[in-house]
Amino acid sequence: MSSHFHQDTTDEFIPSLDKTTDEVAWDLYRKAIRFGNWDPAAIDLSQDKQDFAAFDEDLKGYLIHFCTGFLDAEENVALKFCPWIMLGSSTEQQAFLSTQLLEEFKHTEFFMRYFKEVFGRERISGVQNIVQQKLDERVKKMLAALEQGPEEREAALVEGLTHYQGIIEGVQAMTGYDVYEAVFGSKGLLPGLGEGFARIKEDEGRHVGFGLRMLKLFARNPAHARRIRALYDEYLPHILIRYDQPVVVDGREYPTPPEVRGRERLTKMFERRLRDIFGKPVSV
Ligand SMILES: [Fe+2]
Ligand SMILES: [Fe+2]
Repeated sequence: MSSHFHQDTTDEFIPSLDKTTDEVAWDLYRKAIRFGNWDPAAIDLSQDKQDFAAFDEDLKGYLIHFCTGFLDAEENVALKFCPWIMLGSSTEQQAFLSTQLLEEFKHTEFFMRYFKEVFGRERISGVQNIVQQKLDERVKKMLAALEQGPEEREAALVEGLTHYQGIIEGVQAMTGYDVYEAVFGSKGLLPGLGEGFARIKEDEGRHVGFGLRMLKLFARNPAHARRIRALYDEYLPHILIRYDQPVVVDGREYPTPPEVRGRERLTKMFERRLRDIFGKPVSV
């Protein structure tokens, strides 16, 4: 099933450049139809509820902050994803991207459930994510490009794929899974959250795999390569804020667990994505 996923990059889920983009998109669409049918409502959260109740206040505060970041991000991308589908240049690409839209809502649903059933409360406000905020202007640019010629459309798509698949999913979300593993999963804590992340990661493998393959292909064009690199560089300081900010819940500040090492993980993931796209070590 995964024979066309090759291993010559640092990333395990980037489909080959040997097939056409439409073939790759159709394969991923079919994979989503056949295997992407997990149900966010079916994951057992009872142990998570017990684990959470037994945490000390510091760890409770951190977890609520961490999960708010995920819920905000999944919901925001779900609500704003339509222009990525609309800029797809074939039936195959739009079919695949439409599976991604539904999947982002499923990820949102999973975290909504987590707040309701495990925390018994609403998410907090004020978790900063500047890269997410910038999706508002990105969406406007992409919608404007729909009315323009093929060159403008392609440039807008390249920037959209870099912003969303390349940075939000490829760097920020992937780092979040590692943080969960380091702080909770590796200690046998919060198995329901672990299962949710495992299912979400399967979906994200398709999303990021498609996005990075497109960026790798577009990066052969020097103007697009400059575009992609400029966005990564522009957003790096914003990306680092995600795990550097103080953890404040209901007006009280909580310490970040030492295992998080957010800046280090984000920087490593950032470099890995640049290598995936440009195919050689790139200095930050
Ligand atoms: Fe997602
Ligand atoms: Fe995604």
